[in-house]
Amino acid sequence: MAFRVAILGCGTVGGGVACILLEQRESLRVKAGDEIELATVVDLFPAQAAERHGVPRDLFAGDGDELTPDEANAEVDRVLADDSIDLVVETIGGSGEGIVRITRSALESGKHLVTANKALLALHGEELHAAARAAGKSIGYEASVTAAIPIIRGLTDGLTGEDIQSISGIFNGTSNFILSQMASEGQSFEDALADAQARGYAEADPTLDINGGDAGHKLTILLRLVFGLDVAYADLPRQGIDTVTAGEVDFANEMGGVIKLICFGQREGDAVYATVRPMIVKRGNLLSKIDGATNAVRIVGRYAGENVMIGQGAGSLETGSAIVSDIVFLARYGGHPMPERPTSGLKLRPLGELELPYNIVFETADVPGITGIVATAIGKQDINIDSVSHNRHGSDNAEFAIATMPCTRTQIDRAVADIQENHPGSLLSEPRVLPILV
Ligand code: HSE
Repeated sequence: MAFRVAILGCGTVGGGVACILLEQRESLRVKAGDEIELATVVDLFPAQAAERHGVPRDLFAGDGDELTPDEANAEVDRVLADDSIDLVVETIGGSGEGIVRITRSALESGKHLVTANKALLALHGEELHAAARAAGKSIGYEASVTAAIPIIRGLTDGLTGEDIQSISGIFNGTSNFILSQMASEGQSFEDALADAQARGYAEADPTLDINGGDAGHKLTILLRLVFGLDVAYADLPRQGIDTVTAGEVDFANEMGGVIKLICFGQREGDAVYATVRPMIVKRGNLLSKIDGATNAVRIVGRYAGENVMIGQGAGSLETGSAIVSDIVFLARYGGHPMPERPTSGLKLRPLGELELPYNIVFETADVPGITGIVATAIGKQDINIDSVSHNRHGSDNAEFAIATMPCTRTQIDRAVADIQENHPGSLLSEPRVLPILV
């Protein structure tokens, strides 16, 4: 008996899955120990999808070139009611009620579920995992976090002997591409974004790429897996790259680093400090070398030390490859669902409480003594200065950066408040503060 797979949604990712299942049929049979049969594909535009991905039209459900939404829904319901289907691949996308219903029904009707849908899992993961548990089925979500990088299985099957202390990484290719272009080509934010969209890295609505939402969905999933942290996506502090200026990129370079949109989670006792935000990554850290749309995950464990995985976090065949790996895994081991990581009781704490090195860019009046005033205020808060940049003298202002030794954000805020109170008019704008990842 073959292991029968249905794909719901044959866009960029679903098409990549269909393509690999057909192209690698023989080798997948050997790896899975069973024939993996692509039983059916449901899509609103079967003719177009068939041609785009080289999938025979007769594998698609329904008649004609296009299905109406009602016809497509009826075909989805037919798949869900079909007991001969072992596994449903959800590549429709979205996180609304419709997709929650479909994915929950797939599990409740006794099918494994495989999805790349990070928003769905970040927002409704608990509910879907509970449905999977009740049905004795599994959810494969390798593709949902950094697509082709096998980080989920790396954590659930590879690093099981580890006591993981921190996880950090670049989980959004669009942001990384934009920041790389700004740093290496001097491109403006807007031009780099247009370029990322033209290359197909960005989501249909790039807002979530730019504001840290997409990376936040992925970090939410990993925080649950790594730390058993019961964190709601909405509670995860996020800051996107839309606030990063060309000046900050330049100062980061002078201070020996590069700005990246970093997903970060670090455990200290019973706290996990986690955030998605731009940080300066020092050149000695491998994450600083990850350019373009490439993703990377860095895990630091008590015993294994540092592990870094680098790969493609988007794309049709890249994401399809991760989905197919879940299909093979579930065809082999699906009868024994993985035990889930229970909620650990660890608490999410604000990053500002964690001692980190920071880079602070000051815009000041261009007058003698100003660097001393700023440095003295920083010293008064018991912050040790690591280095001070050159001054950039404008027509009526000056900008310079101070990199600190590890301190808390609260100490920095107090130093800034001290300058504003005791030397009014010397700071011309709110200082720009970025944590430094060493
Ligand atoms: N749009 C995402 C990125 C890929 O730019 O990395 C899918 O999550």
